[in-house]
Amino acid sequence: MAHRIQVMIVDDISETRDHLAKLLGFESDIEVVGTAASGAEAIEQAASLVPDVILMDINMPDMDGITATERLSAQVPSAAVVMMSVQGEADYLRRSMLAGAREFLVKPFSSDELTASIRQVYSREKDKADRAAVVAQVARASDPTHAGQVVAVFSPKGGVGRTTIAVNLAVAAASELGKKVTLVDASFQFGDVAVLLNLNPKDKSMAELVPELEQGLDPESVEKFTLTHSSGIRVLLAPPSPEMAELITPAGVKHVIDILRQHSELVVVDCAAWFNDTLLGILDLADVVLTVLTLEITSIKNTRLFLEVADQLGYSHKIRLVLNRADTTLGIRVADVEHSIGRKVDHTIVSDGRAVVYALNRGVPFVLSNRESQVSQDVLRLATSIVGGQESRAEDAHKAPQKGKSLFAWR
Ligand SMILES: Nc1ncnc2c1ncn2[C@@H]1O[C@H](COP(=O)(O)OP(=O)(O)O)[C@@H](O)[C@H]1O
Ligand SMILES: [Mg+2]
Repeated sequence: MAHRIQVMIVDDISETRDHLAKLLGFESDIEVVGTAASGAEAIEQAASLVPDVILMDINMPDMDGITATERLSAQVPSAAVVMMSVQGEADYLRRSMLAGAREFLVKPFSSDELTASIRQVYSREKDKADRAAVVAQVARASDPTHAGQVVAVFSPKGGVGRTTIAVNLAVAAASELGKKVTLVDASFQFGDVAVLLNLNPKDKSMAELVPELEQGLDPESVEKFTLTHSSGIRVLLAPPSPEMAELITPAGVKHVIDILRQHSELVVVDCAAWFNDTLLGILDLADVVLTVLTLEITSIKNTRLFLEVADQLGYSHKIRLVLNRADTTLGIRVADVEHSIGRKVDHTIVSDGRAVVYALNRGVPFVLSNRESQVSQDVLRLATSIVGGQESRAEDAHKAPQKGKSLFAWR
């Protein structure tokens, strides 16, 4: 069956909520997924239900509909708000639109007016999202340089598994999926990629590239500074000592990644955990930003803050949430995480201290040395979805997080 338009009703008067729900109950393409009696309740519910359309009353005690709409456009941007108000409130119309409402219904309205508005708003929003996906695809397909996909692996908190995932993802995409892959260690001060792959940054690293960047880099010369790992991937390592990191400019990094993507089908960038111009430059040119988090309050909190900034910067559409060590549920469940950040988790990776630490200490990625383990299979699945799943990504963006979804429901 086709997707039913998921609607949430917000009104402080319970009869109005019931009346609207009853009216919409007759429509086969519309489903009322929730109701709320106040602005605050609306925000909380919308974060976990992620409805397509929210019917919002303007006059409510405590938080009014306009304030709630303003917050919702930041926190649940995919939900389109239809404001409902009584006649003669012209100023409200202007303020509602400024707050981010997509439609304005003047009470009393007929059932036809109501359903027509819902359908119109929904199809307009869907068209917008579809167009954005097509534009992105066309841009890639028509790019004369056949630039490869850039995947930034980022987290706003250290120690959550970025490097582990970046390295194994890059190796899996090459060894299992046959892709031409370059891995960049953009943790310029304390990069760990060399350790995980048993490579030496004194042989070749980003440090050698810096003087060349000043004079304008010859695209071919980048190859001279990347090492080839036994798995077949090319690796651009961070400089061997932290002070050299200062020589690397944001523009230089962008330039290097732009050149590397012309030589690869996939460029995986292991990012540092702090927000600076270099990171913004990388996020800017990335096609996908894998945002890694774990089931810890600090990680969840920082992820939520990052997602807010990412939304303002217009990166929301390229973010994919990766929950690492997803089975270490010390009181926090996946559903709690999704509820707290108002977004669904796209991928989960199990915790496997034995396989991960053994691989780390030997300098051989676990997707090679321990291919059959669950953690390897999880990373492989992630690689497959990134390398082969552009279309499904656009589709996924419309889906709401499922309440009570089990940890590995996507398997
Ligand atoms: N899925 C996992 N299972 C078990 N241990 C993990 C897993 N992912 C990462 N680790 C461990 O967590 C620590 C931090 O990982 P790392 O990749 O260095 O994080 P980051 O790059 O985000 O700082 C390392 O000791 C690593 O071995
Ligand atoms: Mg790291």
